[in-house]
Amino acid sequence: MDKITVVGAGNVGATCANVIAHKDLAREVVLVDIKEGLAEGKALDIWQTSSINNFNARVVGATNDYLRTKGSGVIVITSGVPRKPGMSRDDLIKTNASIVKDVTEKVVKYSPDAIIIVVSNPLDVMTYTAFLASNKPANKVFGMAGILDTGRYRAFIANALNVSPKDIHALLLGGHGDTMVPLPRYTSINGIPITDLLAKEEIDKIVERTRFGGGELVNLMGTSAWYAPGAAAAQMVEAIVDDQKRVLPVCAKLNGEYGLKDLYLGVPVKLGKGGVEEVIQLNLNKEELKSLKDSAASVKKTLDVLDAMKLF
Ligand code: NAI
Ligand code: 2OP
Repeated sequence: MDKITVVGAGNVGATCANVIAHKDLAREVVLVDIKEGLAEGKALDIWQTSSINNFNARVVGATNDYLRTKGSGVIVITSGVPRKPGMSRDDLIKTNASIVKDVTEKVVKYSPDAIIIVVSNPLDVMTYTAFLASNKPANKVFGMAGILDTGRYRAFIANALNVSPKDIHALLLGGHGDTMVPLPRYTSINGIPITDLLAKEEIDKIVERTRFGGGELVNLMGTSAWYAPGAAAAQMVEAIVDDQKRVLPVCAKLNGEYGLKDLYLGVPVKLGKGGVEEVIQLNLNKEELKSLKDSAASVKKTLDVLDAMKLF
């Protein structure tokens, strides 16, 4: 790919650009931020690792100059304010919706054909905001959360079983928040069901820790996480650039799948050069479906906040 843009050169954006550059996913990686000099500085720092880490992707930064992003194939939006201790994801909505709308309109102006991956929080409603602001089909605008949340879930399982995280396969549904729905019934160690290897109480504890995994890090660091979020967004970029057809949990627009529509929610999708090429429908049991509906209801509440802002 010729060019990939990451908007927001903060913790998550810079980490994501760094991983994208290491993987040589584009000839040019453009970092953009509103804060004078920040994107240029981080881009220069990453570029100065190229000879050490062996990559060619040119990394450049720009302060609020969207002309530099012209012709991007994929755009990752991380601009916004991160969650602080004591702040719920929903508290972020008012500030971040205006930022995401503004940034989306600017990137689409210069890269009308780009695929947009949203990372800014609260994720599900910010992804909807970008969809509305972009005037693009929903398969080209989606959000990152499920890869991060399953990353946390798999890390906790790897610790509990003392096995390689690489051998743990897992799926997760729902909004990016405390109502997310990890699915132990769809979790295996290379095909061995986790329910055969761990007691229900242990699995419940891991599920609970995953649900509050973002908050755990906020409490430890005073701001939200960036290594895993940045790497997770870069994994989505890689699936698109290399047309990998990966089956990954992604925040996608639903149109009747799981009996839900008119909202963005975490579901397994097939991710390739067309963006979200298919939403995969799992056979959920009654309890799983109820948890998913509860999660959807909580996301709908954040959409009401967006509606009330009358941005669109
Ligand atoms: P950060 O504060 O380190 O970086 C955000 C950057 O956005 C700042 O450099 C800021 O100057 C920039 N920015 C603000 N307004 C802008 C605008 N109008 N145009 C361009 N740049 C602008 O925050 P961090 O930790 O990088 O988090 C970024 C976002 O990602 C937050 O909303 C956070 O909650 C979210 N997040 C989402 C995750 C997910 O799973 N979806 C995981 C982790 C973070
Ligand atoms: C996280 O889950 C806060 O969404 C961010 O780390």
